[in-house]
Amino acid sequence: MHTIHPDCEKILLTEEQIRRRVTEVASKVNCDLAGKRPVAVGILKGSIIFYADFIRCISLPLELDFMAVSSYGSGTTSSGKLKIKKDLDGDIKGRDVIVIEDIIDSGFTLACLKKLLLERGAASVTIVTLLDKHERRTEDIASDYNCFEIPDEFVVGYGLDYNEEYRSLPYIGILKRSVYQK
Ligand code: IMP
Ligand code: MG
Repeated sequence: MHTIHPDCEKILLTEEQIRRRVTEVASKVNCDLAGKRPVAVGILKGSIIFYADFIRCISLPLELDFMAVSSYGSGTTSSGKLKIKKDLDGDIKGRDVIVIEDIIDSGFTLACLKKLLLERGAASVTIVTLLDKHERRTEDIASDYNCFEIPDEFVVGYGLDYNEEYRSLPYIGILKRSVYQK
């Protein structure tokens, strides 16, 4: 048992809840994409833990690749530009791509990424997300497979950070407002 981090207000999703749901979602993907040989693209760094757990439940032959991106703009709003900090190593032309992302919030990041990957000639782009803050969506994009819908609260752990902290917490916790409203 882990004690809750003092900066977290409460645990939103426990290790056990996450493990069960990730397995469940992965088995749907195994069925739906049966016969394919996809490229699993992890979006760094937030997705790393989810990515590692998810791909180990995937029985399809997978190629692994990563991208690091950031959206320009201040605080909570996107300015309409996506910056690629690390690009894919491989060519995705004609490939079925599974994008694995920690959270879909405004949807800006994933909308830009999907467009980019299709422009590069991906045969298909399937979006898999751990979390969805549905209320905050501004872009016309949905994830194809989402593990948990969550309220509009800032969450950390299981890969997600606030100022690069808390990524290694094994659960997903709601960050105390006092930590970021200083
Ligand atoms: P979007 O482009 O607005 O959909 O933003 C998605 C990105 O915002 C995610 O990849 C995260 O890096 C970040 N993000 C949004 N909400 C949270 C949160 O509650 N905790 C940590 N990161 C978040
Ligand atoms: Mg991210």
